Amino acid sequence: MSSPEISKAAKMLQQGEVVVIPTETVYGLAANIYDATAVRSIFELKGRPSNNPLIVHIKSFEVLSEVAKNIPDTALKLASHFWPGPLTLVLEKQDTILDVITAGGNTVAVRMPNHPIALNLLQETGFPLAAPSANPSNYISPTSAENVRKAFGERAPFILDGGPCQKGIESTVVGFKSDGVYLYRHGAITKEALEAALDGVEIKTITHESASPASPGMLLKHYSPRAKLIHTADVKQHLLNVQGKQVGVLSFNTHYTHPAIAHQLILSPSGNLEEAAQGLFNALYELDSKGLDIILAEVFPEEGLGLAINDRLGRAAAE
Ligand code: TXA
Ligand code: MG
Repeated sequence: MSSPEISKAAKMLQQGEVVVIPTETVYGLAANIYDATAVRSIFELKGRPSNNPLIVHIKSFEVLSEVAKNIPDTALKLASHFWPGPLTLVLEKQDTILDVITAGGNTVAVRMPNHPIALNLLQETGFPLAAPSANPSNYISPTSAENVRKAFGERAPFILDGGPCQKGIESTVVGFKSDGVYLYRHGAITKEALEAALDGVEIKTITHESASPASPGMLLKHYSPRAKLIHTADVKQHLLNVQGKQVGVLSFNTHYTHPAIAHQLILSPSGNLEEAAQGLFNALYELDSKGLDIILAEVFPEEGLGLAINDRLGRAAAE
């Protein structure tokens, strides 16, 4: 990426515009965290409810104290282990953080992205960037510039194209309460990796039901393609009941044979969950562009990154 492109994006952000940025997880819809009008236009563009707070992206550890305060030791430990990287920490916010970012709450979500373009841009703007995933609310998160264009069409803002995202699934969101560390959203860093970095401290999982309003992003329906998506451990059984329908299949490493299958994508023939996560959203975009009636998506192994993949597919299937 040429630095004139980054300078152009930095200038637009300084002028209060919204810009699409690449990160290692998914593309983000970014604005200056200190410009309330700019941040509001993120919500407008996405059609995102104002009660769902945004993640603040920072360029270095030094900036963390500009954004958050009273940071627990466990949070510092996780940050020093995983940043820059796909870990978002929910912390007590500094007074200067705008209500529009935190949905009026007193916590702020923060991460340092691991992408050279995002980091160079943050360096050049001088202010942190609020950025949700660059998709209309409830649609599939984009992992390429092309998918951002597919998602927004003519409404797409200026896009810094950083190529395909390396992780392909959003950051893991972690919060801190007096009784311990909580996982708010499964993501590109597994629970096991977090626990190992904390020398075995147990990380508790917040359920969908108990999430609201702590992390509205955990509410069930999300990531929905236009086709009806069925998330199932038994694709074969569902294939028996799809007469007359155009069916797409999304699997981990199994190849299915059935006359109803119009399109089939296998995410990792060798059975590698990292590879599967990396290709997941792109596969959903691809299947959703085929005009299918039904997408049958396999339930992935309930371990490691399989938990994040199943979380996204489960929510894509929710009515
Ligand atoms: O990988 C990522 O995290 C991407 C890239 C662009 O950085 N961003 C992303 O943002 O996925 P978004 O807005 O799609 O998801 C942010 C998640 C939501 O589940 C939201 O509810 C949660 O973080 N969140 C944000 N602020 C929070 C807060 N103060 N307390 C609890 N949860 C929060
Ligand atoms: Mg999102």
